Amino acid sequence: MYNAYLKNTHDHLLSKIDLSQHSSVLDVSAGTGLLAEELILKFGPFDQLVLNDPSTKMLEVAEKRLKTHNNIEFAGFFAEKLNFPENTFDHIICLNSFHYYADQEKAMKQLKKVLKPDGTLWVQDWDRVGAFRIAIKLIDWLSPENINVRSLNEMKILLDDHDFSIVEQNQWRFRWWNFFFIRADLKK
Ligand SMILES: C[S@@+](CC[C@H](N)C(=O)[O-])C[C@H]1O[C@@H](n2cnc3c(N)ncnc32)[C@H](O)[C@@H]1O
Repeated sequence: MYNAYLKNTHDHLLSKIDLSQHSSVLDVSAGTGLLAEELILKFGPFDQLVLNDPSTKMLEVAEKRLKTHNNIEFAGFFAEKLNFPENTFDHIICLNSFHYYADQEKAMKQLKKVLKPDGTLWVQDWDRVGAFRIAIKLIDWLSPENINVRSLNEMKILLDDHDFSIVEQNQWRFRWWNFFFIRADLKK
């Protein structure tokens, strides 16, 4: 079931984004590097590709998965404390992860800090709508991790508060999950 979830969400993101090889890309919660592998295959190689994740176990798997690829950097920061210089990345991807961030305001400030002024942020995550809200409550109750799922509207408000404008958005359903996708650029 989890593999089907990953395939559906990765395929959706990949169908929505476009990356140039001459760009610096941050996958802010890269997990086991599955998406990075797909990004390289479809759009790469990139000038800079950073796979960040605070879980060392996830990063270990990612490093193994991507060991044949050159020019990939790994970092272990929490999204709330991204220790990269300001204006580093042309593109930031946040996939299936924002709902885990304990301090989402702080994380958004950090994403804004490390994105170049003309950069693009793609956020794709669970969407707290309809009957899915009941499933989220159950997951939150059963999960040891922090779960704070926003609706599309709530995410748009957070983005707007941090000087992002919404360029593209959509919502869809896969089995009992609801998702949103957003492309946000910094306001000019
Ligand atoms: C469900 S996995 C998604 C991995 C990958 N993006 C994907 O879709 O295949 C969620 C990831 O978020 C990471 N994560 C949890 N809290 C985080 C935080 N505060 N900052 C950055 N990443 C975090 C976890 O370590 C985990 O690898």
